[in-house]
Amino acid sequence: GCSGAAVCISAVPLAELLPEKPKRSTLNQLTRTLLRKYDRGVRPVLNWTDPTIVYIDFIVQSVLDVDGQTQKVTTSIWYRQIWKDEFLVWDPTDFDGINEISLSLDAIWVPDIVISEFVDVGRSPSLPYVYVNSSGSVKNYKPVQVVSACDLEIYAFPFDRQNCTLTFRSWLHTVGEVDLALWRSPEEIANDTREFMNDGEWELLSVPSRYRRLHMEDQDYAQIQFNVVIRRRPLLYVVSLLIPSIFLMVVDVISFYLPPNSGTRITFKTSILLGYTVFRVNMMDELPATAIKTPLIGVFFAVCMALLVLSLAKSILVVKLLHHNEKEMKEMSVSACLLDKYGSSIQSFNESSFTSVKTLDEVESDSITQTDWLVLCYKVDLLLFRLYLIILVVYSSSLLFLWITWSSA
Ligand SMILES: *[C@@H]1O[C@H](CO)[C@@H](O)[C@H](O)[C@H]1NC(C)=O
Ligand SMILES: *[C@@H]1O[C@H](CO)[C@@H](O)[C@H](O)[C@H]1NC(C)=O
Ligand SMILES: *[C@@H]1O[C@H](CO)[C@@H](O)[C@H](O)[C@H]1NC(C)=O
Repeated sequence: GCSGAAVCISAVPLAELLPEKPKRSTLNQLTRTLLRKYDRGVRPVLNWTDPTIVYIDFIVQSVLDVDGQTQKVTTSIWYRQIWKDEFLVWDPTDFDGINEISLSLDAIWVPDIVISEFVDVGRSPSLPYVYVNSSGSVKNYKPVQVVSACDLEIYAFPFDRQNCTLTFRSWLHTVGEVDLALWRSPEEIANDTREFMNDGEWELLSVPSRYRRLHMEDQDYAQIQFNVVIRRRPLLYVVSLLIPSIFLMVVDVISFYLPPNSGTRITFKTSILLGYTVFRVNMMDELPATAIKTPLIGVFFAVCMALLVLSLAKSILVVKLLHHNEKEMKEMSVSACLLDKYGSSIQSFNESSFTSVKTLDEVESDSITQTDWLVLCYKVDLLLFRLYLIILVVYSSSLLFLWITWSSA
């Protein structure tokens, strides 16, 4: 009993003196096992003739900016690439049933997939980890802000739709080494607009994708193209650009009902023209003009301005016609006076009295021609007004038709 007790007594302090070395966690063990002989510079295949297939997937999260001037589009996407790493394989039963672990991105091989159209580094957060499961499948998920070049079609602005391509490819590896594939079916990717922030200026229509092999310098490169098709919501621009313009044109048309012989109409039209100029100068920044292309709405503004100038010119013409008669009258009376004065001094009394009688006759006939003239002027005014109205209606209805087709297409 005593010896047993001694053993017991000695055993307890022994255990206290030599505490068991702290065991590494299973996670730590697994990571060490996996990365002990890992070389991150080597493509992770057992047989070098096998290509590494990188599965690609992405979701458009939002369209941040579309810059017509520089032809750049900034999109925010959730990008996923998944590939098989044949060296990161383990049996979960050996490691407490761990099926998935996260590894440092710097510790393993990663494919060099880039977007061909990128023109600028966006502000993307860099995530330091990837997820690996026991069969060696590596998942690299990251949010990316892509600033890409895109051939923007601004002619139909603000009823435009854009088709921007994002091409993913390995910059260096040929198809024999790194091949690409889609993670989900193309239909699923095309119609996945769940995550899209739908409150902005742009509406995501679809994201069709296709796989292509690019042949360059006797080598084949795999690439996957995604076409991000977006459509602008025109309401803001219709309210801030089109409607004020239309209102001014309507006011201009109404101003034809002002009497043509007073100067009021010209003053009124001049102020409309001035107002329109100010409006245009303010709105010029909103138009996405490029060096070679200008949107149709810019032409619309210019033509509106031209129409305003035309209507002003027309009013001036009518006033000029009206006063033309008066001026002629004045000239006549002046000449009559002169004739009277010199006539009295040069010619005989009888002759001069005859002349004055004749002048009276002339004044009478002039008053008749003046009424005729006035009637003619009003007719010309009406005619010009109708002509102007026809031009305006044809112009605006053709533009309206065009815009409606664009917006409903
Ligand atoms: C690699 O794969 C190719 C084709 O599948 C096969 O012919 C070759 O024997 C393999 N090489 C090795 C070392 O297993
Ligand atoms: C690892 O992930 C891939 C891709 O998600 C999956 O197909 C595979 O079944 C997973 N393996 C295990 C053992 O869970
Ligand atoms: C977008 O552009 C690509 C090529 O640039 C073309 O193949 C595709 O049909 C276009 N998609 C739409 C909806 O216009």
